[in-house]
Amino acid sequence: MEYKVLNNGVKMPVLGFGVYQMPPEDTERCVAEALAAGYRLIDTAQAYGNEEGVGAAIAKSGVPRDEVFVTSKIWVSNMNYERAAASIDESLRALGTGHIDLMLLHQAMGDYPGAYRAMEDAYRAGKLRAIGVSNFYPERLVDVCALAEVPPAVNQIETHPFRQQRAAHETMAELGVAHEAWAPFAEGQNGIFHNEVLAGIAEKHGKTPAQVVLRALIQSDVVVIPKTVHRARMEENIDVFDFELDADDLAAFATLDDPTLPRIFDHFDVGTVRWMLEELVRKQQLGGEALY
Ligand SMILES: NC(=O)c1ccc[n+]([C@@H]2O[C@H](COP(=O)([O-])OP(=O)(O)OC[C@H]3O[C@@H](n4cnc5c(N)ncnc54)[C@H](OP(=O)(O)O)[C@@H]3O)[C@@H](O)[C@H]2O)c1
Repeated sequence: MEYKVLNNGVKMPVLGFGVYQMPPEDTERCVAEALAAGYRLIDTAQAYGNEEGVGAAIAKSGVPRDEVFVTSKIWVSNMNYERAAASIDESLRALGTGHIDLMLLHQAMGDYPGAYRAMEDAYRAGKLRAIGVSNFYPERLVDVCALAEVPPAVNQIETHPFRQQRAAHETMAELGVAHEAWAPFAEGQNGIFHNEVLAGIAEKHGKTPAQVVLRALIQSDVVVIPKTVHRARMEENIDVFDFELDADDLAAFATLDDPTLPRIFDHFDVGTVRWMLEELVRKQQLGGEALY
């Protein structure tokens, strides 16, 4: 495994295993298989409902806890100081661990500055080894960096061949924030696994299109967390450290970037934002507590 050193000196694997849309009953088996296949970064979230399965697999794996890098994320319904602080403790309990390696704010919604302060306090208390954000596009990232006492170490955003996020990457690099790709395979959309450009590069190196995608992103200084429920694909997706793409390959990969294609989650779409905020508003009504 190769590692990226974050802005606080913590080492993060450059390739991990994502568990979004993985049913809780499958998660323990899949994470156990991923750890056996050599993965050392597991990416979960409060909203995925499967932190328990991740924790159980790690505990039973025989891999020392300090060799596994666990990421979780604070959901929108926990976006204020008190709720975020309580939810960090709840994630620690669900994961069955004394510390989480990286905690992210899942979305730039609600009282995220308050939630960020809760992460800073948990970081200082040793509950979190690193903190960061997700889905913070450049203008929100600049904002959170300006208010942070502990700068975000990572920003996890949609990144794949068809949405390479080069401008966002530049801002992150300038701010010292590591770029982590969610949906590195575009969730399988747009014919990615049969794309001609990727297939051509793959053939040249005796690899698969999936391996070319992950390799291209890693060589572009982007951390990747592909998801699969299949053991053979877990092995395929981690087998990307024995070849190198050259300048021609990377130039061909760059041509796939197409900002006109729809986003998987459009954070600039009013309907999408309203839909995500519904849960936050519901909690507010139920609890009579102001989250904004
Ligand atoms: N922060 C956020 O807001 C956010 C949003 C989305 C995702 N994420 C994180 O990013 C991780 C990855 O993103 P994602 O799960 O949305 O999508 P993804 O990794 O881009 O794509 C997963 C899809 O690709 C298929 N697949 C995986 N490896 C393959 C291979 N070698 N050949 C052919 N098909 C393959 C999987 O099918 P099978 O499972 O059937 O193999 C699944 O349908 C998530 O699991 C989650 O941890 C974060």
